[in-house]
Amino acid sequence: MNTDRSGSATIETGQYDFVVVANRLPVDRVTNEDGSSGFRRAPGGLVTALHPIMSASSGAWVGWHGAVDETLEDFDNDGIHLVPVALSEADVELYYEGFSNSTLWPLYHDVIVPPEYHRTWWDAYKAINQRFADATLRVAAPGATVWVHDYQLQLVPRILRMARPDLKIGFFNHIPFPSMSLFAQLPWRTQILEGLAGADLVGFQRKDDADNFMNCLQNFTDYSIQGFEATPPFEHDTQNICTAAPHPISIDTSEVARLARDPQIIARAAQIRHELGNPKTVMLGVDRLDYTKGIRHRLKAYGELLSDQALQAGEVCLIQVASPSRENVGRYMQLRNQVELMVGQITGQHDTISHTTLRYLHHSYPLREMIALYLAADVLLVTALRDGMNLVAKEYVASHQDGRGVLVLSEFTGAADQLNDAVLVNPHDIAGMKRKIIAAVTMDEAEQSERMQRMIQHLEHNDVQHWSRHFLDDLNKLAETHRPTSPTKVSEV
Ligand code: F6P
Repeated sequence: MNTDRSGSATIETGQYDFVVVANRLPVDRVTNEDGSSGFRRAPGGLVTALHPIMSASSGAWVGWHGAVDETLEDFDNDGIHLVPVALSEADVELYYEGFSNSTLWPLYHDVIVPPEYHRTWWDAYKAINQRFADATLRVAAPGATVWVHDYQLQLVPRILRMARPDLKIGFFNHIPFPSMSLFAQLPWRTQILEGLAGADLVGFQRKDDADNFMNCLQNFTDYSIQGFEATPPFEHDTQNICTAAPHPISIDTSEVARLARDPQIIARAAQIRHELGNPKTVMLGVDRLDYTKGIRHRLKAYGELLSDQALQAGEVCLIQVASPSRENVGRYMQLRNQVELMVGQITGQHDTISHTTLRYLHHSYPLREMIALYLAADVLLVTALRDGMNLVAKEYVASHQDGRGVLVLSEFTGAADQLNDAVLVNPHDIAGMKRKIIAAVTMDEAEQSERMQRMIQHLEHNDVQHWSRHFLDDLNKLAETHRPTSPTKVSEV
């Protein structure tokens, strides 16, 4: 804070007109040829969508750089100004593994495992949200557009609004928003809701999520609700109107399609099938190793199909990629043990000397290898118990421009709202899921192609660029309608 000539306080502002705030920065650490360390743009839909907007204008990204107990200065990478937020070992334990991933994550995913409520975790969440907001305030220009992402940072919109009413503030929730009866459990429900309501626009994956948010605001705050607009009471310390809306995220469809036509990737797909012994049917599962993904339900159905001999060892192989995630969180360790026990039981019982029925891979792979796996797979199994969107489903579809392949998709994913030509399943219904898997394996080519082409068309019109452009256009309109004197237009950013 400075004082001007008249002696009254002025707030320091930064120079960036468009600021993204997310738990992680969009970069991976790499070792350069001379042995020094540097950063490279991380693959991913969000940065792909925002990169053109950020590099064409004055864009900054605030986030954690992934290392513990390391403080870094701001730096520029690939046309984006990066603002690293430092996290100590205790911060990671209490804010990231604790409140974000052991309180909010399970609560927002239908309490698949019980959420834990600890006041020390909440205190850390508040302090770290303040730290992200402070870093944002340091770089945001007057009237800047600030786009905050995801459940780790739900208090940031209100902190920004209180400090800088000039900002246009958007928030996008990448995961589901729970029903009022579940959200009611959260001891800090009012603070979280008011934190989010500091934004002009709160975007969700599904209309149901936006409905849940509005119901929660109506029941647990003093805001008055009209449709999807929430207005604070007269005496409230923030005075913005908050609008909620569905804005389902998508993928870089043309880039995935381009990679799927790459001859090297096509050859790699053939090699994968060959190395598995050219089974008649290759099925694929690709997930972070997370209890929300329904991996155990999928393996149960698959194991039973092999035992029933509805699927024959030697003719079928399931590749299950389970990428390591949140490995210090107890429930994730427990899940890994359960999944690996099931993998051992299935392969032990059904494999032959020459053929495996299940190839389990506890690794992450680069996008090119993922596209080769999608191309190699006749069927993709997405059996999440709850999932905000599921971009793997969309990538699989966009890879299959030739119309081959079948997507088996859980009803409990955001993607099911849009990809309704998939074979939809309820992963809790093992018998039903087994029938649907067999229907997918035996689907004729004409039906595969009809379904695939309709889903591809949807993804061509609704890609990640379309998503970000629409969100920012809506944010700009809402901020202008509600505060007509705002100086900066997002479309000018
Ligand atoms: O789906 C929510 C999300 O935060 C994604 O944005 C992210 O890719 C994934 O979960 C894993 O997040 P992290 O490894 O940072 O916990």
